[in-house]
Amino acid sequence: STKAVILVGGPSRGTRFRPLSLDVPKPLFEVAGHPIIHHCLKAVAKVDDVREVILVGYYDESVFRDFIKDASKEFPQLRILYLREYTALGTAGGLYHFRDAILKGKPERLLVLNADVCCSFPLGEMMRLFDEKDAEAVILGTRVSNETATNFGCIVSDSHTKRVLHYVEKPESHISNLINCGVYLFATECIFPAIRSAIKRRTTRPRLLSYPSSDNLESSFIATGDDEDAAKSEVLRLEQDILSDLADSNRFFVHETKDFWRQIKTAGSAVPANALYLQKAFQAESTELTPPSATIVPPVYIHPTATVDPTAKLGPNVSIGPRVVVGAGARIKDSIVLEDAEIRHDACVMHSIIGWSSRVGAWARVEGTPIPVGSHSTSIVKQGIKVQSITILGKECGVGDEVRVQNCVCLPYKELKRDVSNEVIM
Ligand code: GDD
Ligand code: GTP
Repeated sequence: STKAVILVGGPSRGTRFRPLSLDVPKPLFEVAGHPIIHHCLKAVAKVDDVREVILVGYYDESVFRDFIKDASKEFPQLRILYLREYTALGTAGGLYHFRDAILKGKPERLLVLNADVCCSFPLGEMMRLFDEKDAEAVILGTRVSNETATNFGCIVSDSHTKRVLHYVEKPESHISNLINCGVYLFATECIFPAIRSAIKRRTTRPRLLSYPSSDNLESSFIATGDDEDAAKSEVLRLEQDILSDLADSNRFFVHETKDFWRQIKTAGSAVPANALYLQKAFQAESTELTPPSATIVPPVYIHPTATVDPTAKLGPNVSIGPRVVVGAGARIKDSIVLEDAEIRHDACVMHSIIGWSSRVGAWARVEGTPIPVGSHSTSIVKQGIKVQSITILGKECGVGDEVRVQNCVCLPYKELKRDVSNEVIM
């Protein structure tokens, strides 16, 4: 059988997802009407021989309780559980710490998914490649531009055999534009020994101080908290400590997806993730979506408890959350409107996220600038200049009537009474 682990991280991560992660843990943030991890879980549920999914992270025990209760009803064939790391153990450290629970029932294969990616999760294709090659590991890869590739794990492969020849996590200079999507399939009989030998190696050979961290800007030669933790505790990363070894084994393969893939790091990246999942649901003719009409440009998701005036025009790529109220003549495009928010009459919302219980006044304009397709930027500030182009209103913000808000990030509980652009409002 196959087991699945979804790496959900913990509250010290996802700070780039602020201000939205101030109110909800990133994995539970809703895009296209469902929490980010629901999209991962739904893909896992389609794999025939998966009976158990383990969320591994270091959030409080209570964080995923309701989600798991609901998901267990929706996917009755799955046993879903959350295992909490007492501290961040790293992407491989968590797996190793919970190896007994993971290996219970003797699964032959282990699927591992990063929770913070948005893609079509072609797990069936990965399983087929795994069987066909009698692999030890299969990684999902995608092509990105040469400029952005070094922000990710880079894979050098033999295009003919699909074998992974080299793997380097966030290299200093270009080695490949085929990158790690954060989705893996491992043979259980080899991933745990591989982690064990990484641990052995570490204890026999002291670590270098200049350990490249996941942040390739400010990593080398500075002993950050991360490095100290790694040195003294069990922090082990699949990417840095395990995958390059697996490449030496000759039984590590890559499935290259041509379908969509995005990372969900910054709060703004929820907007393209929302669009991609809505488009996927639309192609699958999902009945969850609102049918097209004169005022609905698909794909649009409206929660059943929302009230949308029939003269408001919505779409494409719009998600409207529970109990949201949208007034007459409002226009909403490429945006996420969260629970209990209100968009008053004739307001316009584009390329934006409207936070929980926020109000956008009559004739107001809240707009961002679209993130170019194919851009995989993960930072909000580059060389001191704000590059975040999606407008985000945190929880309970208010935009006055006729006020224009352009390319802004607004922390919770702010009242915007005057026009603002290109600002972080704190
Ligand atoms: N349980 C647990 N414990 N989860 C963790 C921990 C941990 O200590 N650290 C990270 N995670 C989870 C995060 O929540 C996320 O889902 C995933 O593991 C990877 O997060 P990062 O470690 O921040 O890596 P990254 O996102 O910068 O890069 C990874 O993903 C890219 C694709 O999105 C790498 O795998 C890259 O190679 C890859 O390209
Ligand atoms: P996610 O956004 O969920 O991946 O969490 P993150 O920790 O990657 O992002 P966050 O916005 O919290 O951190 C900003 C940058 O700092 C990211 O590029 C991180 O890789 C990096 N970072 C976070 N924590 C540490 C740490 O303890 N040490 C080092 N060296 N870098 C860190």
